[in-house]
Amino acid sequence: MLETDKVFSGSIPENYDRHMVPLIFEPYAADIARRAASLTPSAVLEIAAGTGVVTRTLTPKLSPAASYVVTDLNQPMLDYAASRQPPDSRLAWRQADAMALPFENAAFDLVLCQFGAMFFPDRISAYREAKRVLKPGGHFLFNVWDSIEENIFADDVTKALARFFPNDPPRFLARTPHGYHDVSQISSDLENAGFSDVEIETRAEQSRAPSPRLPAVAYCQGTLLRNEIEAREAGTLQAATDYAAAALAERHGSGEVAAKIQAHVILATA
Ligand SMILES: C[S@@+](CC[C@H](N)C(=O)[O-])C[C@H]1O[C@@H](n2cnc3c(N)ncnc32)[C@H](O)[C@@H]1O
Repeated sequence: MLETDKVFSGSIPENYDRHMVPLIFEPYAADIARRAASLTPSAVLEIAAGTGVVTRTLTPKLSPAASYVVTDLNQPMLDYAASRQPPDSRLAWRQADAMALPFENAAFDLVLCQFGAMFFPDRISAYREAKRVLKPGGHFLFNVWDSIEENIFADDVTKALARFFPNDPPRFLARTPHGYHDVSQISSDLENAGFSDVEIETRAEQSRAPSPRLPAVAYCQGTLLRNEIEAREAGTLQAATDYAAAALAERHGSGEVAAKIQAHVILATA
């Protein structure tokens, strides 16, 4: 992971929420919120909450007496999340690094994290922090993307950009969001952090869009791939996006498009 692989700011929050969230995050937000609600938690901490797709999905499912603290490393992502959420006295927003959580020991009965762990430079430290703030017997529920080959549009865009920039292919998607998918590694990291009883389920969903242009714009302009493309040559963002859109159209057609996405969903007990 590069240092720049964690800087979600500038135009990223808005483009991320508008393009990426409906494309690949919503189906997993519905899944993780359903799993979280079935644990009937009373004190929830969400880490790496981004623009709040899980927060929006889970809040209506929590009991009226529950508390829900929503955090992210990048304040601009959290500001965007808060701007989309109706006022709710159960919710509190706080900037926080997953590896140094500003909370007391045993403060929560559920720690929740959707597609954040791949961005933590030291995952065992982050998992130890999750364990520390959980009550004994509490749950850590999170998901991570499977390999890029199992996530078709991400793979297609990465391959198209490798042809567009043959001397220096931008590899953000393979390196970071799709760079932590080995289930035995995930289990052993959790065990090293003190969790017992780790359950992992691999879940496929469909990514759908009204045209092949939308996934091209989403990946090239709504993720940190944007910074990597812009760092290569001034003015190439639009041309690179067009090239990726043409490659997607060639493979998936020019009308509505759909392709497989796949992730691992992990439940660990403190
Ligand atoms: C792919 S986004 C996922 C956001 C959200 N959970 C969702 O499902 O849309 C990854 C998030 O991880 C956050 N992040 C990166 N490094 C982090 C860290 N060390 N601690 C907490 N959050 C971090 C980023 O700011 C970003 O919002």
